[in-house]
Amino acid sequence: MSNLLKNKVAVITGAGRGIGQTTAFLFAKEGAKLILSDIDKEPLDETVSKINSSGGNAIGVVCDVTKKDDCEKVMKSASNDFGTSSIDVLANIAGITHDKMIHKMTLEDWNFIIGINLTGTFNCIQAAEPFMRQAAKEEEDKTGKIKTRSIINISSISAMGNVGQANYAASKAGIIGLTKTVAKEWARFNITCNAVAPGYIETRLTQVRKEGEDFGLPEKQRQMVSTMIKETGLNRELGQPEDIAKVILFFASDLSSYVTGQVLTVAGGMMGTI
Ligand SMILES: NC(=O)c1ccc[n+]([C@@H]2O[C@H](COP(=O)([O-])OP(=O)(O)OC[C@H]3O[C@@H](n4cnc5c(N)ncnc54)[C@H](O)[C@@H]3O)[C@@H](O)[C@H]2O)c1
Repeated sequence: MSNLLKNKVAVITGAGRGIGQTTAFLFAKEGAKLILSDIDKEPLDETVSKINSSGGNAIGVVCDVTKKDDCEKVMKSASNDFGTSSIDVLANIAGITHDKMIHKMTLEDWNFIIGINLTGTFNCIQAAEPFMRQAAKEEEDKTGKIKTRSIINISSISAMGNVGQANYAASKAGIIGLTKTVAKEWARFNITCNAVAPGYIETRLTQVRKEGEDFGLPEKQRQMVSTMIKETGLNRELGQPEDIAKVILFFASDLSSYVTGQVLTVAGGMMGTI
């Protein structure tokens, strides 16, 4: 264990799988006290028990980020489980795809993705307000100083537009506007708010789509992506969840305490930056 997040209380959404789970493991190694959440209990419980059995400190709260009450329950774990009224890090990682060409996309398809990716991020930031913005105000009143807290949101290179992803691209572009607004509104309270925009990362969202499954890429597209990465980007295969988790850690730690309102593309050089 090293100490980049020592004594920090960190909330991670979407911690049951993929980028969220890998971020949870990395934050645990760096000494954070973790409040982990996911809509799916089983993978969430697995993440929590792996961390605790290897000497970390994590609790799990099942939460659907589209539900305000669930998000509030997650943040209240800071006081209920860790006895503190302050959250240092909020990593909004929960997200999903539901791809269709725009002429086939129903309003339901649209609202489903906007609801989880964009409104879910908004819900968690609002629910964290008493533990971040309000906590900072109280700290300043008491001590005259405010420590740095950080919010990290997950955008995507799809925010620049991507075939079959009108709903997803709009949600991820919306996250950029949300990130930059929170950065401006809460700068006064030493709360940084930055976004990471991953390229193609190997998780269930980018696996070859199986018959009848909602997630994943058609095999042909997946091969195209793989070729594109090799030909135009770093000499690598698809990115791994660790590639994103390391950048989330940078934004969560004091290494980036003078950085806010930024969107960092992490795509192995495959495409232009956002
Ligand atoms: N994999 C990629 O190539 C890629 C690229 C760009 C951005 N992203 C973003 O990274 C984030 C993580 O995705 P991933 O690739 O690790 O996918 P993943 O499917 O492996 O993990 C996402 C997690 O979010 C959880 N989740 C889904 N809906 C939820 C809800 N309503 N409430 C709470 N939790 C919910 C899932 O249960 C899952 O455990 C997402 O925001 C995604 O859009 C991924």
